[in-house]
Amino acid sequence: MSATKSDALVFFGATGDLAFKQIFPALQSMIRHGTLNVPIIGVAKAGWGVEQLRDRARESLEQHGGIDREAFSKLLALLRYVDGDYSDLATFRELKKQLGDAHHPLHYLAIPPSLFETVVANLAESGAATNARIVVEKPFGHDLASAQELNHTIHKYFPEPNVFRIDHYLGKEPVQNLLYFRFANSFLEPIWNRNYIRSVQITMAEIFGVQGRGAFYDATGAIRDVIQNHMLQLTAMLAMDPPMEHTHEGMRSEKSRVLKAVKPLASDVVVRGQFKGYHDEPGVAPDSSVETFAAVRLNINSWRWSGVPFLIRAGKCLPVTATEVLVELKRPPHDVFTEHPPASPNYYRFRLSPNVVIALGARSKLPGEEMKGEDVELILLEEAGKDVPPYERLLGDAMHGDPERFAREDTVEAAWRIVDPILGNAVPVFEYEPGTWGPSQADQLTPYKNGWHVLEPSSA
Ligand code: BG6
Repeated sequence: MSATKSDALVFFGATGDLAFKQIFPALQSMIRHGTLNVPIIGVAKAGWGVEQLRDRARESLEQHGGIDREAFSKLLALLRYVDGDYSDLATFRELKKQLGDAHHPLHYLAIPPSLFETVVANLAESGAATNARIVVEKPFGHDLASAQELNHTIHKYFPEPNVFRIDHYLGKEPVQNLLYFRFANSFLEPIWNRNYIRSVQITMAEIFGVQGRGAFYDATGAIRDVIQNHMLQLTAMLAMDPPMEHTHEGMRSEKSRVLKAVKPLASDVVVRGQFKGYHDEPGVAPDSSVETFAAVRLNINSWRWSGVPFLIRAGKCLPVTATEVLVELKRPPHDVFTEHPPASPNYYRFRLSPNVVIALGARSKLPGEEMKGEDVELILLEEAGKDVPPYERLLGDAMHGDPERFAREDTVEAAWRIVDPILGNAVPVFEYEPGTWGPSQADQLTPYKNGWHVLEPSSA
């Protein structure tokens, strides 16, 4: 793989929501950190000129992170704009012209997946795909077949080492730390298996609803929006075997291997929910049965994990905004102190957002005559969730041709293979009250009495 640094950054969807919320702040930050000094070309069909794109950048930064005067003026100087239809080759000829002397551009497709094929074909036809890299937003396809088709289409024009499938969770510092913590310490590995772990829970809870993204969300739903990608990537990081060495393909191969061992989901291990009032959201069909909550129980068919339930749930309009992993250990083999109710199991807790915590849950004796205990938590790490914004980190990686924190073709397909049987209306959708933990039917997925772990709001 060539490690040539990309010499231009092109972003399609320049007037869209993602550019507004994530890309402009990432670009300014990269400039501030001295990692971006090449032409930046926005492409969209809005009837705009570069001045309007500059205004949009200003507005974006005023609302997301603030303007850094020096970096922002540099951003304005680097910014160019091409307006036109994605199905019109003339748009891409103009882009090629704007690329000028750049011979290794990075094309970032921050656009709906339905447009990918047209855009990559026109990039190739205009010559703008030559020696170029491409960054593709999630969801990558809408099921296994479409993901395979999309991979096939992209590979007609871009070889795999030049394809970067973004999952911004992989760019998050606490997610990277999860991987680091697992493999940089020796105390976890001996217990990190079916002999000691009784269940793994991952919860991604959001207190808010669809935030004006009704049309996108109603064509997507929680399973495609976050389970197939963010949650399964986290699962892979928690369950993968240690790589032989720290090479990007070493890491990616282990992740892919473990996802290939996950049994595709059957309808009896999935619960879908929809918050009350979802139908009133702009862009949502009045009779929509799309889920805003999903809970699933995974089984990994491997020597390490066989029989250990991996429970994942994600939803909108839940009681808190937080992402947390709870790895519950088996109880001591013999209950020496016969406590009533029985003592809680030990656990590792990884809070990934909005604050960051790594904690170990244990039992300790309460002072007094009786051999009775209480739950205590040893906090190994606790910090406010300050971070290099994931888009800054990931765009920087892609410009350097480093694929480690991007999803490889086989991993994306393995993840689709897991959720494929339960997409659409394969299982019913249950209504839930906003501000609750989703439909009560989800409780039946947990095999143990203590049920789903309750996430506390962030105090940071
Ligand atoms: C996106 C989903 O990928 O991730 C959104 O489309 C979700 O629905 C978001 O809200 C959550 O990401 P973060 O980084 O804000 O936790």
